[in-house]
Order: sequence, then structure tokens, then C-alpha cells
Amino acid sequence: MSTERGFGEPAKTILLVGATGNLGGFIARALLDKGTKLRLLVRPGSRVKLSPDVATAAEILEDEAGAFEGVYTVVSALSTGSEALMDAQLRFLRAARAAGARRFIPSSFSLNFFGLAEGENVNSDWRREFARRADEERGAVEVVHVLSGCFLDMGVLFRFLGAFDLDKDEAYLWGDGKHKMDFTTYADTAAYTAEAALADESLPCEFCVAGESLTFDELVNETAAGLERPITVKTLGTLADLDDEIARRLQAEPDNMSSWLPLMFWRGMLNGNGKLGPLMNARYPAIHPTGVRQYLKRMAAANARSS
Ligand SMILES: NC(=O)c1ccc[n+]([C@@H]2O[C@H](COP(=O)([O-])OP(=O)(O)OC[C@H]3O[C@@H](n4cnc5c(N)ncnc54)[C@H](OP(=O)(O)O)[C@@H]3O)[C@@H](O)[C@H]2O)c1
Repeated sequence: MSTERGFGEPAKTILLVGATGNLGGFIARALLDKGTKLRLLVRPGSRVKLSPDVATAAEILEDEAGAFEGVYTVVSALSTGSEALMDAQLRFLRAARAAGARRFIPSSFSLNFFGLAEGENVNSDWRREFARRADEERGAVEVVHVLSGCFLDMGVLFRFLGAFDLDKDEAYLWGDGKHKMDFTTYADTAAYTAEAALADESLPCEFCVAGESLTFDELVNETAAGLERPITVKTLGTLADLDDEIARRLQAEPDNMSSWLPLMFWRGMLNGNGKLGPLMNARYPAIHPTGVRQYLKRMAAANARSS
């Protein structure tokens, strides 16, 4: 299904908040590639973080007043994990509703947090709470959560998550690793988000897309194939042992999220609770999402060119 506008049709105006962030930069470019009239709402002083190609092509506002007028979809790529950010997103949702926007895409971009139990992952708890409050406040605005699993880029799957140590060529397993898990690059997540932002038709509340869905063994095999070297698997315990390890870390360092939050995400992937529902990929055949092997081969080629 195409969301390209027909000849003579005016371009839709999309308001993006969070364009100065990692994912936001990708979404801005994906929207510009689709011929969108892109409006950015940035915090005073942050516009210098925009890449020049985005900054020259978009309308940039620092004031919320008037920012939502004439907007088809509001996309948020804000960072997550605080009351202040939840309040900011709810404020944007209310403004979208008041301005008669068609759709609001919050900064959900995650595994399927709706499938996780309360307390299983504090970040998922926060996202579910936002989704619940957004449902109460949305009026006629369609709220669409773009869910694309774990970003398979180097800094996330291969660093943040703690699933691999590529310096040692090791992968770390808890449990039996038999559940499928979803992996998508930042760029592909952004491309699908642009499609969701521009869609004429109604979309489901959970807009699930993925570059690839793999079990742990498949993930390790694809990683080894992409790197062209073997990866050693170390089994660290059962899923119950993982629960204990997370509880131990939480008790030892409650304020140090980086000690326990990555393991909460890894648990939600390994235990299958964060598995995405039916994927929307087939609706957007022009997007050919990157898988783990292809991503790693591309990285290796880029590194070889720059060295
Ligand atoms: N699925 C995955 O594996 C995965 C991995 C990484 C991230 N994510 C998700 O992707 C989304 C974007 O993350 P990211 O890493 O791209 O974020 P990021 O690079 O940290 O960017 C955060 C953006 O939020 C803005 N922001 C922060 N605090 C704000 C506030 N109080 N008011 C208004 N704007 C504020 C920042 O603006 P300034 O420039 O003004 O500070 C920036 O534009 C989040 O939902 C994150 O959880 C998912």
C-alpha cells in the first residue's frame, strides 16, 4: 500500500519532537525522503544538534504555541523514563487533539512492552502507563505505538543489552533461548515510522515491524556469519537465575540504572514476553529491512573503507 501523495495533492505536515536525538534524526530524514512538510519542535539551544541536511529542509520551532496547527501527525522521539517526559508527551498529545491532528506516534519504539508484567522492566512500566493515560486523553486522535523490538545497531544489541561482548567474541544466554526475538535498525524503524505517520488509512494501536525475528541460536549464528568469525556462547543460568541477578543488582545499586536496566530488556526478550505481535512489514514492500548478518557485513565494509 502506498502512502505517496498523488500529483497535485498537498504534502502532509508532520510535527516531530525529539529530532535532535539519535532516533529522531533518522525519523526526520525518513520523513523528508517521503516528501513531507517537516516541522520540528526543539528545545531552545538544541537546534545546533540538528544535522545540516535536516536543519535546512525543515521548519524549526522553539515555541509550542502554534506548532500543532495544520499538522497531520505528531511524532515523538523523546527519550523515555521520567515523569517529566511522560508529562511532556501528554501535553503534546493534548495539543495535537486540540489542533485536530489525525494521529500521534509516541516514543514507544521498543519490544512489546504491553506483554511484560508490572515491575518486569521499569521502562516498560512507564511506557504502559503512558499508553493508558494517552488512551484516556486522545479524543479522536489515533495513538499508534511503533514497536520494532531491539535496535540491532552496534550501540544497542551489541553493547547496551549485555547480550554480547564482541571484544571477546562471546554471547551470553539465560534460559533456553528458544523464543523468537525481534531486531530492527534505527534506520528501518524510522522508515516504518514515516510510513505510519503519513498513512491515510487507520492503523492499529500496536504497529509492529521488525528487521528480523530470531531465536538466541539464530541470533548467534547470524552474528557469527556477519562477523565471519565464531562466537562462543556462555550460558549464565536459568531465567529464574536471571530474575535473581536483576533483583541482586537492583538491591545493590538502585540508582544505577545501567547496572540492571539492560538485563531487564534482555530478560523480556529471552522469556518471550516482549515478542511483537503480527508484523506490518508486508504492507510496506518498498522497505527492505536490514537483518543482523547484513548489518554486520555493512559495518565491516564501512570500517574497511575508512581505515
Ligand atoms: N528499541 C531499542 O532498542 C531502543 C534503543 C534506543 C532507544 N530506544 C527508544 O527510542 C526513543 C528515542 O531514543 P534516543 O536514544 O534516540 O533518544 P536521545 O538520543 O537521547 O534523544 C532524546 C531526545 O529527547 C529530547 N528530550 C530529552 N528530554 C526532553 C525534555 N524534558 N523535553 C523535551 N525534549 C526532551 C532531546 O532533546 P535535546 O536535544 O533538547 O536534549 C532529544 O531530542 C526512546 O523511546 C528510546 O527509549 C529504543
